[in-house]
Amino acid sequence: MRSETAQLIKLQDYKETPYAIDSVSLVFKLKPEATEVVSTLTLSRRDGTEAGTLLELDGDELTLVSVAVDGVALAQEAYQASATKLIIHNPPADTFQLEVVTKVNPTANTKLEGLYLSKGIYCTQCEAEGFRRITYYYDRPDVLSVFTTRVEADKASNPILLSNGNPQETGDIEGTNRHFAVWHDPHPKPAYLFALVAGDLACTSEKYTTASGKPVDLNIFVEKGNEDRTDWSMDSLIRSMRWDEKVFGREYDLDVFNIVAVSAFNMGAMENKGLNIFNDKYILADSDTATDTDYEGIETVVAHEYFHNWTGNRITCREWFQLCLKEGLTVFRDQEFSSDERSRPVKRIADVIRLKSRQFPEDQGPLSHPVRPTEYKEINNFYTATVYDKGAELVRMIKTILGADGFRKGMDLYFERHDGDASTIEDFIKCFEDANALDLTQFSRWYHQSGTPVVKARGSYDAAAKTYTLDLAQINAPTPGQTEKKPFFIPVRFGLVGPNGDDLSYSSVEGAQVNGDLLCLSEDKHTVVFHGIGSKPVPSLLREFSAPVKLETGLSREDQIFLMRHDVDPFNRWQAAQTLMTELLIELTRGEEPAGKEAFIEALGHMAEDESLDHAFRGFGLMLPSEQAIALEIGADVDTDAIGDARDAFSKEIGVTLYDTFKRLYNELDMPAAFSPDAISAGKRALKLRCLSYLGAAQTEESAALAKTHFDNADNMSDRMGALTILVIWQLAGAQEALKAFEERHKDTALAMDKWLSIAARAPSEDSVAAIRTLTEHPAFSWENPNRIYALIGGFLGGNTRGFHAADGSGYNYLAEITLQLDKTNPQVASRMVKSFGNWKNMNAERREKAKAALQGILEADQQLSTDVKEIVELCLD
Ligand code: ARG
Ligand code: ZN
Repeated sequence: MRSETAQLIKLQDYKETPYAIDSVSLVFKLKPEATEVVSTLTLSRRDGTEAGTLLELDGDELTLVSVAVDGVALAQEAYQASATKLIIHNPPADTFQLEVVTKVNPTANTKLEGLYLSKGIYCTQCEAEGFRRITYYYDRPDVLSVFTTRVEADKASNPILLSNGNPQETGDIEGTNRHFAVWHDPHPKPAYLFALVAGDLACTSEKYTTASGKPVDLNIFVEKGNEDRTDWSMDSLIRSMRWDEKVFGREYDLDVFNIVAVSAFNMGAMENKGLNIFNDKYILADSDTATDTDYEGIETVVAHEYFHNWTGNRITCREWFQLCLKEGLTVFRDQEFSSDERSRPVKRIADVIRLKSRQFPEDQGPLSHPVRPTEYKEINNFYTATVYDKGAELVRMIKTILGADGFRKGMDLYFERHDGDASTIEDFIKCFEDANALDLTQFSRWYHQSGTPVVKARGSYDAAAKTYTLDLAQINAPTPGQTEKKPFFIPVRFGLVGPNGDDLSYSSVEGAQVNGDLLCLSEDKHTVVFHGIGSKPVPSLLREFSAPVKLETGLSREDQIFLMRHDVDPFNRWQAAQTLMTELLIELTRGEEPAGKEAFIEALGHMAEDESLDHAFRGFGLMLPSEQAIALEIGADVDTDAIGDARDAFSKEIGVTLYDTFKRLYNELDMPAAFSPDAISAGKRALKLRCLSYLGAAQTEESAALAKTHFDNADNMSDRMGALTILVIWQLAGAQEALKAFEERHKDTALAMDKWLSIAARAPSEDSVAAIRTLTEHPAFSWENPNRIYALIGGFLGGNTRGFHAADGSGYNYLAEITLQLDKTNPQVASRMVKSFGNWKNMNAERREKAKAALQGILEADQQLSTDVKEIVELCLD
């Protein structure tokens, strides 16, 4: 949040700064309400900068104490200072030192950006533009400098003092109760990677030796009392470090690697050089409070932040338009890590579910933007699923197109050529082109054109000629700001599945670039003819989800059931089931009686019991698309109540029809005596809970008792939370009692109570908003902590479709009210919440009218809006 009239920042306006910052020395005199920051910058005029050019540094809500150049205090007329800028009128020639003293108030910093206090712990969050809330600086990623940081604080309340890089000296400050620590980071870095932590923290440590024999101290710092919940994150860190050495040839480059977990944090975590700061949700785990999904999330986020050391820190971004250069690539790297550590097909399914549920909606509404955008008002609004998750898909496609070796060659060249640089997507692509002698110009459109392409496929078999013809077309609808689209380069992994389930081979092919099982579309339409096909195949297209597109195959329900049973690609077996479920659910929503429903339910029963498939896969295979996913597929004039009713009825029908199958499976799946978070055990738990949820949907007395017993006997959070969700969602006997018992057990563990809040937020209710209001009064909830807000409010917006989209507009009005309230304290969190309006145009007329009024109400409120919220609301209304 900076000013009332936010400017549109444009990629085309990018210019280097006139001065370079050669080194930075910072002294922090920490006090809860008045911290003094002494910053000494060594600046030099860049080649081509005229002598006397203004030095203009960024600030945000800063109070200037003093400013001096080369040791001499500046006269009033020599500079200009405001809360948001420091301008030095006539800097001396060539090289000079600028000493700036500012004062900040960490206690009053509710935005959690810059320097703030979280439960008595000083910490920082500087990405994207938080450093300017600490001192005046060139707060932009292309200004790299070497930082030395001295931290001073009261010794008793802050025994631990941390910053980036390697530790230098420590000592007491004579005649006071204070002490200090000096840290030096030899790697030049932009200000957004700066970090500082001070507090009374507990620590767990390990020793690590890199592949080339360098010792590294690993430390995880947490609030006291949480030190026995760091085993899994430490284990994940060590495995990540090994993996990056093995798979990408990347080693760690400092003597220490520190992680700190704090409870108040806007995002997941932050990759500050040598000092990662985490939302404690992604560090703390034990079987009693963390679900299997939490364990997976921790593994992923720990790896993600660690991998940033090379993709983000050693090579950073030239400006924030290049955010996907580090985020898309690093998400791809953490996905690959988890795939290697767990089951690859299951991980792929999980990642695609995430992409389709978060990125596809973004791309289908007013918030659609390219992976590499060209303009924004508030950069914090662009930490999106498109930049992160679609960004990762684009890197994955490069690997698909080049093959594993070609991909590694390109990555090696990227590290070699750009180490120490602030780079661009163009630089990145060029490395793959140069390393593989290939032109990726058309492929690069994926970075610049927004929207999800629709690929239509229709096949026909000619028995006499033994040919199979596939007509393929890509359709690219206009998106905001982009009316004309050029065709994408789309890699389609495929197989032609023969009658016995094996892939048929072809003797020759024409009509597109085809190489083995990879077919690449480069034009709007292709007619691809395969020769030497002995029998009629069923095409299995987009295996492994080889491109982020919406595929319409037009396959009959029989053919889809056939793929569900026989495809050699597990991903497409899952996809076939999902496609069928979606089709059936849409017809049910319209009140029709779909053809093939019984056959599908029977096939689902087979999938549930297919021992050749692993448990986690079957758990995903049986999962119905969410109400939001169905709404998105319907696309226009959506009635969320009709969707909810249809989905409930279909769940119940599946539960009743396959009752005995699910009951048998539930009883037969036996768990090892001791809890383990490994992928195999997690998969079993997931499948067992999926069976229980269908039994719950059948709403029998027996199934209610089973769910309640499951809850009572649970020795881990996955089972406890899973059973509680089933009891609450299906309103089974024992639900209220279980909610009470959960609360009693976990009332002192905030992260566990977040789960309780999110389940309560999803409970069916006549008046959901009233129920949520009551929950905001609960002692477990707080408007100050983002995790509590994401759990309760996020749980309502994302998990209670009927409630949020209530036809009377009550959910929309409530979101408007919350947005305005949160915007006063934490604009980033407010903006994340208000994004739930993103698909309002897909709703039916009654709801659209209510949503529009609520959005307009935000703009018209008698309150100054942050750039964050204003930009999102304006885009939604555009
Ligand atoms: N770079 C962090 C990550 O690993 C995210 C930080 C986002 N912060 C923000 N204020 N938008 O993904
Ligand atoms: Zn990241």
